[in-house]
Amino acid sequence: MKPLTITSRLEVYDSIDEVPEDIQELMQKAVEVRDTAYAPYSRFKVGAAIYLENEEIVVGSNQENASYPSGLCAERTAVYYAGAKFPETKILKIAITAKSLRHKVVSPVPPCGACRQALAEYEVKQEEPIELYFMGETGKVVKADSVKDLLPLIFDSSCL
Ligand code: THU
Repeated sequence: MKPLTITSRLEVYDSIDEVPEDIQELMQKAVEVRDTAYAPYSRFKVGAAIYLENEEIVVGSNQENASYPSGLCAERTAVYYAGAKFPETKILKIAITAKSLRHKVVSPVPPCGACRQALAEYEVKQEEPIELYFMGETGKVVKADSVKDLLPLIFDSSCL
């Protein structure tokens, strides 16, 4: 037996005012689209804004369904929209923010496992990492340089 230690390095900013200006603008797009979330069941609204290599921004929000598993997270709504609209364009950055209609979300909200897997597919496809920034409604912002930092040992096409 040999132990395998996996480390991830993330950066934590005390507030949105501390992140680079282009990310503040991207996060603002995520904040705006967050209100379009259709979340009558969870009352938890998530917005995601993706910055592409062609300088376009594509956004998405979570869309729920009475048949719960049929709903989709904001990150996947955005990333699949980007894939459909700009199939050959690299995804450089994603900003994510969440808000609850029940309480104030003050801690950073990371993408769920399924969204990490979906985003990882595009990193592998484009052979370039995607920078991630995520936050709650207020408070700290976490940055990851790559989806791999949030999803070590990813399952990708090389496993097939
Ligand atoms: N949600 C997202 O949009 N992104 C995530 O990464 C986590 C969860 C949504 C799904 C559901 O509509 C609501 O938040 C509560 O789970």
